[in-house]
Amino acid sequence: MPMVIAIDGPAASGKGTLAKRLAAHYGLPHLDTGLLYRAVALTVLDAGCDLDDKAAAARAAATLIADRLADPRLRQRAMGEAASRISSVPAVRAALLAWQQRFAGGESGAVLDGRDIGTVVCPDARVKLFITAAPEERARRRHLELTRRGETSSLSAILEDITARDARDAGRSTAPLKAAADAVILDTTDLDADEAFEAARAIVDRTRSH
Ligand code: DC
Repeated sequence: MPMVIAIDGPAASGKGTLAKRLAAHYGLPHLDTGLLYRAVALTVLDAGCDLDDKAAAARAAATLIADRLADPRLRQRAMGEAASRISSVPAVRAALLAWQQRFAGGESGAVLDGRDIGTVVCPDARVKLFITAAPEERARRRHLELTRRGETSSLSAILEDITARDARDAGRSTAPLKAAADAVILDTTDLDADEAFEAARAIVDRTRSH
């Protein structure tokens, strides 16, 4: 049975970095599913449409091409907010669900990170992790990351951003941000990146040997 690792968590929890490192460690392909939602939002904006235009968002999701996922604009702070807004549209989620399940269903197994991987996209994943950290610590890390990339924004604005985004992601009716009942919760507030990776690796090794 190919190994699928599902990683969920709130904005800036470090789940993306962990997912990438786990994928490299176990030799599995990795999909950052947040990028799909970001790409849909960018397509809507590039077409000159409004983010509240549900039909435009659904069209963008249905016709999304993989090339779009390499656009550096997807990593901008504003795109996280835009992605969160279009991600509550059920038709967008349905189109992206098929994409994600195709990726996860490959023979080699996979690591996927997002908000609803353990609950909706891969409910049968062998290992499910829910990565979290205190909002202030997540804001601090995101601030550092954006500053390194040359994007200036204040720490308090980022904290406001991620708190609003978490509330929207957890509050939507279709596939909200939530830990699966069988997920292992990893709080990385007091862990650095290496410690978080070691903790996650230990959980994966323990879970898959059962
Ligand atoms: O992980 P991220 O910050 O790149 O995600 C951007 C937004 O996309 C997030 O706020 C909500 C949405 N998203 C989602 O609804 N489901 C996922 N599996 C991944 C992301």
